[in-house]
Amino acid sequence: MTDLGKLGFGTWAMGGPFWDGAQAAGWGPSDDAESVKALRRGFDLGVRLFDTADVYGCGHAETLVGQAFADVRDQVVIATKWGNTFDAASRQMTGSDASVPYLRRAVEASLRRLGTDWIDVQQLHLGGLPVELAEPLREACEELVAEGKIRSYGWSTDDAERAAFFGAGEHCTVVQAELNVLVDNPEIRALDLDVLCRGPLAMGLLARESFDGQLGDDDVRGKVPAWMRFFRDGRPVPEFVAARESVRDVLTSGGRTLAQGALAWLWARSPRLVPIPGVRTVAQAEENAGALAFGPLSADELEQVESVLRG
Ligand SMILES: NC(=O)c1ccc[n+]([C@@H]2O[C@H](COP(=O)([O-])OP(=O)(O)OC[C@H]3O[C@@H](n4cnc5c(N)ncnc54)[C@H](OP(=O)(O)O)[C@@H]3O)[C@@H](O)[C@H]2O)c1
Repeated sequence: MTDLGKLGFGTWAMGGPFWDGAQAAGWGPSDDAESVKALRRGFDLGVRLFDTADVYGCGHAETLVGQAFADVRDQVVIATKWGNTFDAASRQMTGSDASVPYLRRAVEASLRRLGTDWIDVQQLHLGGLPVELAEPLREACEELVAEGKIRSYGWSTDDAERAAFFGAGEHCTVVQAELNVLVDNPEIRALDLDVLCRGPLAMGLLARESFDGQLGDDDVRGKVPAWMRFFRDGRPVPEFVAARESVRDVLTSGGRTLAQGALAWLWARSPRLVPIPGVRTVAQAEENAGALAFGPLSADELEQVESVLRG
């Protein structure tokens, strides 16, 4: 069983700009040296799980993760994803491929970029794939476990039925789903799986005070795709800002920052929730890892948040 620890870091933004046609799929420019430093700072502060995907920066995020942990590979847990196809040279997404031969090619490519012999958690990145198409992939993942190329696997999907279907596989141990204090997912929480919680900071809304004029068209939060709920036209959606403000005092009680409070809410909800906040800088790595020292919200604080937001 893979020990995920309490906290992981996400690396989507570190991949740098990439595109789905004219739609930004990245988070604007990134700084590779700062990214690697931020990952290592997390490691120094006790973070062991690092979540990436082959498509982040069209391979670039995986390369950075590989560089950051080359000398401590056996001490970190690397979770990556496959399913979206891309062209590294043009940094364009090109579609998706849910075939077994593509899974095998994707694993080999991820291993090369990560500079490793094994992937700790291989995740299916196609969240809405029909279950019948996922069945051969689940079997192929079991074969990849037997071959030693991957150690476990899961589905990155917000849909509990799909996650449970994959979860029936012997070495499927996780689901990755959107879960944060503003968007709960009780069906996912009810599964007998560890949950890698993506978007634990609501894509920065639960961490940064201001975004005014700072999100360009090369940031997925600037020119937003249809699925984006937290941002519109480069600005946070007012309903989510109001919800954040309504629980700010509880989340920041006891000296926590807002981001640390958002992580503490997840730990209080269930010990099987593992937040994977995306980081871009050493300062963000330090603040997010600093949440570990505070631990979960108390039962009383959790109750207060729930009664305000969902009572
Ligand atoms: N389908 C999928 O499988 C899927 C989808 C989404 C995400 N993910 C994974 O989940 C990870 C986390 O989700 P996410 O990156 O979408 O959202 P998130 O973790 O909610 O937000 C991350 C962003 O918030 C800002 N931030 C982080 N820590 C901060 C701090 N301490 N203070 C101020 N700002 C801070 C940073 O952006 P700025 O500095 O630019 O504001 C950072 O990129 C991703 O990196 C990725 O690994 C997976």
